[in-house]
Amino acid sequence: MNDKDFKILFSQEKIEKRIKILAQEIDEKYGDQPLTFICVLKGAVVFYVKLLEYLKNKNVELDFVQVKSYEGTETTGQVKFVKDTSLDLENKIVILVEDIIDTGITAKFLYEHFLTKKPKDLLMCSLLQKPDKLQVDLKLPTLIGFNIPNKFIIGFGLDLDERYRNLNDILVLKD
Ligand code: IMP
Ligand code: MG
Repeated sequence: MNDKDFKILFSQEKIEKRIKILAQEIDEKYGDQPLTFICVLKGAVVFYVKLLEYLKNKNVELDFVQVKSYEGTETTGQVKFVKDTSLDLENKIVILVEDIIDTGITAKFLYEHFLTKKPKDLLMCSLLQKPDKLQVDLKLPTLIGFNIPNKFIIGFGLDLDERYRNLNDILVLKD
């Protein structure tokens, strides 16, 4: 695959505007209550940092988890923890920060796992979702930045075989 096979889907400016609105929605939903933000590494890290920039005055606790399911551009269908959280989440408001919900297998796995930790509230906040690719029954509260077509994307944290995460914009694979 060549770099020229991609074109811009969302500019950095457009992404950041949308993230600001997501931050406002979180702010309105939870007010002054303490929040625990869990970043799903590695893809969500750029989104996570930006979202937290817009939530500077909040009382927050931060952690990172890492899961693995993808090889190249395809999911293997099996999700595994590379790193779980060590925080006690009982009775806390937990916000899982994801880069993208594709088949939904990862989101469902994470949601069910974090429910067992008895949080007061559990919300999945994903920058992107490909609604046409959803394979599982995702009955979970979600905040989504953008719904996108069923195409492979890179940039703003998202990778293709660990490359391109540092691109400022989100690029989509051309037809
Ligand atoms: P799911 O389990 O199929 O929903 O996949 C979720 C994970 O796959 C995301 O957290 C991403 O890391 C990765 N992923 C899914 N679609 C893309 C894509 O278009 N580009 C890069 N990574 C993707
Ligand atoms: Mg990923």
